[in-house]
Amino acid sequence: MDSVLLLTLSLLFLCQTGGSTDVKTLFVQTGKDVLLEIMDPDAVKDYILLAWRVKKKESKTELLVSFSSDKKPTVHGRYTKTAFPQTNFSVILKNLQKADSGLYDAQMTTSEQVILVTYNITVLDPVSPVKLTVEPVSSSPDSCNVTVSCTTDDYTISSTLTCTNQTCTNQGDKSEITPSAAHLHIYLSDDSITCNHSNQVNWTTATAPINLLCPTNPGKAELNITCCALLILLGQIQCTILLKVTAL
Ligand SMILES: *[C@@H]1O[C@H](CO)[C@@H](O)[C@H](O)[C@H]1NC(C)=O
Ligand SMILES: *[C@@H]1O[C@H](CO)[C@@H](O)[C@H](O)[C@H]1NC(C)=O
Ligand SMILES: *[C@@H]1O[C@H](CO)[C@@H](O)[C@H](O)[C@H]1NC(C)=O
Ligand SMILES: *[C@@H]1O[C@H](CO)[C@@H](O)[C@H](O)[C@H]1NC(C)=O
Ligand SMILES: *[C@@H]1O[C@H](CO)[C@@H](O)[C@H](O)[C@H]1NC(C)=O
Ligand SMILES: *[C@@H]1O[C@H](CO)[C@@H](O)[C@H](O)[C@H]1NC(C)=O
Ligand SMILES: *[C@@H]1O[C@H](CO)[C@@H](O)[C@H](O)[C@H]1NC(C)=O
Repeated sequence: MDSVLLLTLSLLFLCQTGGSTDVKTLFVQTGKDVLLEIMDPDAVKDYILLAWRVKKKESKTELLVSFSSDKKPTVHGRYTKTAFPQTNFSVILKNLQKADSGLYDAQMTTSEQVILVTYNITVLDPVSPVKLTVEPVSSSPDSCNVTVSCTTDDYTISSTLTCTNQTCTNQGDKSEITPSAAHLHIYLSDDSITCNHSNQVNWTTATAPINLLCPTNPGKAELNITCCALLILLGQIQCTILLKVTAL
């Protein structure tokens, strides 16, 4: 009974030390660098070993960089080309790849072991460009219904809007998460419709002006009248020539 109590107490203690360090969440774009910091380097003293470690998905915890008691750093294993220890116990990780995503922590060994900081790093590619396409559905003299689609390299979202040459009704807002965990959002702003493809590290947009959405807007109607007028004019000239030829 006593040993069970003791075990429970020590487990509790372990959980508390584990929970007392906050986890910093970082999203990093593929190929970029990141700085892993010990926030209070002056407090790091009288230690036996200070070790930066990494736990990547489905692999064991690995040693990245360790500082011996005389502050001398050692970069371990395959990290010699990517991990750069700084004099203040921080480490710069260069050229991060998606496989580098994982939990990074700094463990200080004195008479006991303390985790000084934990980083949860997720490496993401920048998002792909988006294409905005507008398909007419139906139209009346004063409004039209159009389907606006926004396409990425792996996903499409669509939204049907009722527009005049000035405005669209506000049902246009549409937002979804793509298979690559990015955010795709179609929305209306003052005089345009926009699609925003974004993740935590990057975004791209495509925009179409509202006054071009409806097929029957005054601009085109005017053009059409001009065309008809030109055709009539041409017809008249032809007729005149024909008449003259017949007259001869
Ligand atoms: C540690 O050093 C790096 C440069 O080597 C610096 O950018 C960073 O701000 C320093 N961090 C602290 C907490 O002193
Ligand atoms: C790390 O962050 C990612 C992305 O927010 C999250 O899915 C994951 O659960 C986090 N892992 C831990 C151990 O906190
Ligand atoms: C647009 O769609 C709405 C809803 O389906 C419909 O009530 C309306 O008549 C349509 N407008 C035009 C111009 O086709
Ligand atoms: C289109 O816009 C013009 C002003 O730019 C306005 O006079 C006209 O009434 C509008 N037409 C429709 C169908 O809303
Ligand atoms: C696109 O979305 C991202 C993330 O929500 C945001 O930071 C960015 O400002 C948006 N861009 C535009 C042009 O709205
Ligand atoms: C998104 O990433 C691309 C490619 O790296 C870059 O050209 C673009 O400037 C980035 N956009 C933003 C808003 O960060
Ligand atoms: C021009 O007018 C004709 C007849 O009114 C119509 O059928 C056609 O769709 C119009 N074309 C354009 C480009 O507006």
